[in-house]
Amino acid sequence: MNARNGARPGRRYAHVIGWGSYAPSQVLTNADLERMVDTSDEWIVSRTGIRERRVAAAHETTASMAAVASLRAIRTAGVEPTDIDVILLATLTPDYWMPSTAALVKEAIGNTKAAAMDVAAACSGFVYAYATAQAYITSGMATNVLVIGAETLTRFLDYSDRNTCILFGDGAGAVVLGASEKPGGGLGIELTTEPEGAYMIWLPAGGAKRPPSLESVARGEHYVRMEGKETYRFATRTLASTALTAVEHAGLNASDIDLFIPHQANIRIIEAVAKGLSLPMERMFVNLDKYGNTSAASVPIALAEAVNQGRVAVGDRIVIVAFGAGFTSGAVAIEWTADPARGRAGEAAVQPEDVHVRLPVDWDSVDPIPEALAAVLGRPVAPGVEVPLDDVVPGEPEHASRKTEVGV
Ligand SMILES: CC(C)(COP(=O)(O)OP(=O)(O)OC[C@H]1O[C@@H](n2cnc3c(N)ncnc32)[C@H](O)[C@@H]1OP(=O)(O)O)[C@@H](O)C(=O)NCCC(=O)NCCS
Repeated sequence: MNARNGARPGRRYAHVIGWGSYAPSQVLTNADLERMVDTSDEWIVSRTGIRERRVAAAHETTASMAAVASLRAIRTAGVEPTDIDVILLATLTPDYWMPSTAALVKEAIGNTKAAAMDVAAACSGFVYAYATAQAYITSGMATNVLVIGAETLTRFLDYSDRNTCILFGDGAGAVVLGASEKPGGGLGIELTTEPEGAYMIWLPAGGAKRPPSLESVARGEHYVRMEGKETYRFATRTLASTALTAVEHAGLNASDIDLFIPHQANIRIIEAVAKGLSLPMERMFVNLDKYGNTSAASVPIALAEAVNQGRVAVGDRIVIVAFGAGFTSGAVAIEWTADPARGRAGEAAVQPEDVHVRLPVDWDSVDPIPEALAAVLGRPVAPGVEVPLDDVVPGEPEHASRKTEVGV
């Protein structure tokens, strides 16, 4: 799928007017991983470029991190939460199968009118959601769209599998796209899906094909599985060509792009993109050393950091580009029109403790972190608590008959 965006009178454009990100404070270093699996800092840095990644705290979830990043983006945009009319949240680690994580974020940010939904395209999810938001705006169906990428991947990793557990981390990023009649914003889009790679990165159990069971858990089928080499080959083959096609749809050449903001999976993949586009690495934004691969959150976190670090100026042309499970890939060429200085104020205005995602009443929860990771990070693992899941609506009468029913 692709979209061209030539300037035409009366046309609506979708500009980035706000951006924000959030990464949890707990750091998991390569040295920590050395204590869990047979690996080394030297191997991880030389093969991936990753030095550390973040781990969500016990009380944090995809929705809570997304809400912090979203409110930062909304503050940066200078709009009110109620001005947002569509919320699109890209994730492969939603809080629940249902409701959508986007619905939880809508409530947490104090929005009352938006249509909210999740987008599933794995690590390309944010770019897919961005393209969808652009379509809502340019078609006239929406004026302000909140686009989020958020992940809590550390809860879906097998910390005895060195192929996967070294790569991923947690975090969230968001942008607000606003409608304008002034040219700028998204210029060209390219999205691809190659189902031949469907089982190269996947999470086997938990869905309709393999609902969760004692057996699926015993076999570790609720963890991310990956064929690293095949995925690497796909990424290096596709990322540069997807980016280049989006640039061409914008009527530009790769050399016209001031900064590429690629999915932060592996420094060698980003170097291959630079080489494929005949551009120096200075045109590629890199922050994977600090966060690892945060899947759908990676591009919006990188975008917010790049702008806040002064790497993007008004009038610059940038490209966001990602690849991921599916296999999917996506890129958007964007003309930047917002004052970059606004981002830092937006970030400072919203602290994680100010944001609350409503939990189901009476459903106590233990720290959902995998036990091996909890031990290395020194987080106490609470004993399992058996709490019935039957009383989640405030004011609902107590289930007084429960004890009698089970004959206690
Ligand atoms: C995963 C990845 C870093 C592995 O790098 P690689 O250079 O392909 O490494 P290989 O898989 O060829 O493994 C080389 C050796 O290192 C070993 N190895 C694998 N993981 C290791 C680790 N964490 N520490 C130490 N050694 C490791 C392998 O077992 C292998 O050993 P062998 O030669 O004795 O068999 C790389 O393939 C990659 O980045 N793939 C893309 C993954 C990705 O981006 N996924 C997310 C998509 S959104």
